[in-house]
Amino acid sequence: MEKYAEQTQQEFEGWEEFFNKPVDEKVNAFRSGNRIYDVIYAQQFDRAFLDYLCRLADSIRLLAKTKVGQSKLRHLLPHKRAMLYFVQPSTRTFLSFQNACHILGITTSETRGTSTSSEVKGESPEDTIRTFASYVDLIISRHPEAGFAEKTAWVLNQTDHPVPVLNGGSGPDQHPTQALLDIYTLEREFRTIGGLDGKKIAMVGDLKRGRTVRSLSYLMKNYQDIELVYVAPEIFKMKDDIKEFLDKHRIPFTETEDFESIMPDVDAIYMTRIQNEYGSDPTSEAETFPQFHLRPHHLPKIQTHCAILHPLPRRYEIDIRIDKDPRAAYWRQERCGMWIRAALIAYIFRVDDDIQDELS
Ligand code: NCD
Repeated sequence: MEKYAEQTQQEFEGWEEFFNKPVDEKVNAFRSGNRIYDVIYAQQFDRAFLDYLCRLADSIRLLAKTKVGQSKLRHLLPHKRAMLYFVQPSTRTFLSFQNACHILGITTSETRGTSTSSEVKGESPEDTIRTFASYVDLIISRHPEAGFAEKTAWVLNQTDHPVPVLNGGSGPDQHPTQALLDIYTLEREFRTIGGLDGKKIAMVGDLKRGRTVRSLSYLMKNYQDIELVYVAPEIFKMKDDIKEFLDKHRIPFTETEDFESIMPDVDAIYMTRIQNEYGSDPTSEAETFPQFHLRPHHLPKIQTHCAILHPLPRRYEIDIRIDKDPRAAYWRQERCGMWIRAALIAYIFRVDDDIQDELS
């Protein structure tokens, strides 16, 4: 579809001032009563919340095993409607949120690009989002711009008809619900070996532009005695803001380009893909950085309990022959995303107690 007009720029009084505050000072703006209302940054989650949400996801999962249980879940929120505003490519996050909504009986609408919305007429994204809030009870957004979900939630909260906003990925910045599902997966993979506390986790690949490793790193402050190993090519090293956060919270981390050397030491390996979409140099697109790939000959080097995760999509970072290894957790991780997102939405709409009651 042709674009008729340039996007209208709107200035919201107070936004710049709010945006420039440290996250710690902003989290209260996204709470309502004693609860999280909008999910914008991973820093909003504390240990009690994470543990609670993992238990809730387990309960939903258990109920969904039977027809009767699924029917009970579907009767929790049939009076609610959600909008999935996904204007950056997505497969898992979109589908898992959509199916999480359907599990709870929520009706969904979707926009998968700006080309068929009034944004081609020059409408600002803030007005577009405000329009969604006129029709639905929940907005889930994915956008190429860092800070997009934060701004739309902030703008909506100034209106007389706010609805919760869930950040399904905001540029190279944050992906808080991915971090939730990563935690849920790690907790499940480590269930028989004492959970996540005390574990050493390697994050591998494009740590500079990958938002999942950023959000997951923030969550590490909630666990005891965690150690992180960042394995990345020099040009894609983890950014300083995250390293400063880890220092502040006394979370030890090391950095290396020698992937093989750390393989025997870690309890989990979190693989990521090179995020070419954020690059401007076409010659670098062909480079797949094979030193940062996991291959079948590496499997004997890693511990027998080592969990292999990947937010997916993968390219060449994990050889498909690894999929059959019991330590390959990434397909389980994908399903965990649907259950933890259903738990999050149930919490946001305060039907979490009803779910726990069903099982007590
Ligand atoms: C990730 C993302 O979009 O940030 N994918 C996802 O949500 N599962 C990771 C990626 O695209 O590499």
